Amino acid sequence: MSEIRSRIQELLAPIDSEMLEMNAILQAQLEDDSPAVRDMTSHVGRFSGKQLRAALVLLVAEATGRKSHEHVKVAAIVEMIHLATLVHDDVLDGAEVRRRVACVNERWDNQIAILLGDYLYSRAFGLSTTLASRLTSQLLAKTTSRLCSGEIEQSTQRYDFELTQERYEFICAAKTASLYGAACELGARVSDQAASGSFPEDDELALSMACFGEELGLAFQIIDDCLDLVGDTEVVGKSVGTDVEDGKVTLPVLHVYRSASEETRDHIRDIYTKPGIEKRAVRLRESVDLTPGLEYAKERAEELVDRAMARLDVLEDTAARRTLKSIGDFVLGRNW
Ligand code: FPP
Ligand code: MG
Repeated sequence: MSEIRSRIQELLAPIDSEMLEMNAILQAQLEDDSPAVRDMTSHVGRFSGKQLRAALVLLVAEATGRKSHEHVKVAAIVEMIHLATLVHDDVLDGAEVRRRVACVNERWDNQIAILLGDYLYSRAFGLSTTLASRLTSQLLAKTTSRLCSGEIEQSTQRYDFELTQERYEFICAAKTASLYGAACELGARVSDQAASGSFPEDDELALSMACFGEELGLAFQIIDDCLDLVGDTEVVGKSVGTDVEDGKVTLPVLHVYRSASEETRDHIRDIYTKPGIEKRAVRLRESVDLTPGLEYAKERAEELVDRAMARLDVLEDTAARRTLKSIGDFVLGRNW
């Protein structure tokens, strides 16, 4: 087992049994009468990675003292939606490897990957209708539409070197941080009380946990963008370099571009756009000093994690809160 995997297992030890239960629910949802579908869902079952979003549902529930008998199911639903988005995202990125396993678009093709993503997504929502309240369905419907709109925005901003940091973060918040925020909000909001039509907007603790998740998720995406630029597929476990290949101008590049000479700017644009260049990210990092951009992005991620951690101060000192704190360090230090 890799060092990082055992670190995650150690981190999530306080919710070991709930994670096992969550995975049993997830596995049951991947079952289908069709052998073809079963073959594919068992393939994506091998994508099971850090399962951070599911863990956040359970840890926030525990740390806020609001744990209910439905949280495990909610965690499985969040993880299934995440899986569906990954399968679709790999089509958009033309990625080949995810969590050291061939992407669905690579193992089969794009058509299958779109259909399988839809399948996982619909199973997740089907499961959410079995919960006592509509809260989870409502919040996750809102979250997935925000997530899709973030991806759409990102597609329209490709090759835009004038993108502001604010706009970049807006997109990252929508496409990635939104699901982290929703996971944490659900951890704090789902309760054993019977279904009530709507949920209170002024639940300060739930709103604060949603902000905690969003900040953590934004930091996660910023670090992910650094890894896509300079990481190694072997270490990261998924295709890297796809951002430059697809024209996505991420924070480290934006920072370097902002303060570069006209000549360097031309060079960066050429690497992104000139036909026939192979391994564009490698060419970029070999010909331009990206260090200041990577350092800047890391500092921004640290700032966001600090802000997220401060939100935990209102919670009692429990094992779950300590784990949430360690997840912050993990997000900053991860290399896969
Ligand atoms: C990270 O992208 C962003 C996502 C994984 C979200 C992708 C969402 C969609 C494609 C919409 C799908 C919608 C539904 C309803 C299924 P990234 O490419 O920066 O991250 P990566 O490095 O993990 O590929
Ligand atoms: Mg991707």
